[in-house]
Amino acid sequence: MFSAYPDPAGPDTAQNAYVFERGVTFQHRGGKTSTGRIDLYKRGCFNLRAAAITEPVLHKFQNIENRDAVLAYDREEFITAKMVEADPKIPGLPDNWRDAVQPHTGYLCVWDRKTTKTDPVTGRQVPDGKAIVPLRRYVNPRPAWWPQADFIVGNPPFLGASRMRDDRGSGYAETLRAAYPEVTDSADFVMFWWYKAGEETLAGRTRRFSFITTNSIRQTFNRRVVQSEMDKGIYLTFAIPDHPWVDAAACAAVRLAMTVGARRGDLPPINPATAKQGSASNDPAKL
Ligand SMILES: C[S@@+](CC[C@H](N)C(=O)[O-])C[C@H]1O[C@@H](n2cnc3c(N)ncnc32)[C@H](O)[C@@H]1O
Repeated sequence: MFSAYPDPAGPDTAQNAYVFERGVTFQHRGGKTSTGRIDLYKRGCFNLRAAAITEPVLHKFQNIENRDAVLAYDREEFITAKMVEADPKIPGLPDNWRDAVQPHTGYLCVWDRKTTKTDPVTGRQVPDGKAIVPLRRYVNPRPAWWPQADFIVGNPPFLGASRMRDDRGSGYAETLRAAYPEVTDSADFVMFWWYKAGEETLAGRTRRFSFITTNSIRQTFNRRVVQSEMDKGIYLTFAIPDHPWVDAAACAAVRLAMTVGARRGDLPPINPATAKQGSASNDPAKL
């Protein structure tokens, strides 16, 4: 258990879970050791201000998880005709699902939405019907759990509603939307992170959150998510609505937004001087 704020270090180092100036023994190559102090230590967290940093810099802190950050589920299953007959409401099924049943395997497969071939008549690129992927269902889908964090920062993937479907498949996209009824249907993938961080902050588990997002966060379909969190008590302490960026994958100049949210009432008063600096805006109406 941690107290809300760090204490001064006590004599028993093992008991110093969240303290200033925690004593530490550094292990060097060749077996040598030296002592130092960590300015601010919290057990299980990465210490940026250690008086000396040893190699490798990134240790096994046991606090990095490789998992889906927004959708949790027990397992994925390839969909068969039998499954659809038992549950015709499996998310992401095409209307003509019977056409998708593969004769040899019994799995439902659809075009991968990426691979094309040249049409021999028109010379145009058309879907390659041989490039197929199995449809999946997600067993016991639910919002992913996030551990408590004082601050949440992130650069989550930006995928508009239709790109999310292309990229992750209709099954994933529809399962995710069903797991988050409060996130509007047309919202970008990144807004699920924004919503979750807003909820963590409203619950008092997080002090501030900040994300790089698509600049379409200002448009109605994404802004609804922001608005609904603000109606519940989230406040934007800082926002850059339209920042130039380079999309390395697409080699394209894009523009993105950056936002910082906190719970209303937890905030110091806004400083009008900072509010006027650069393109940053404290006024949610300007986002
Ligand atoms: C815009 S990149 C940011 C990468 C890195 N954090 C940074 O700031 O440079 C988004 C990252 O989110 C990861 N990602 C995509 N879908 C995810 C999901 N459902 N859960 C967790 N991470 C995901 C991608 O693999 C990608 O690495």
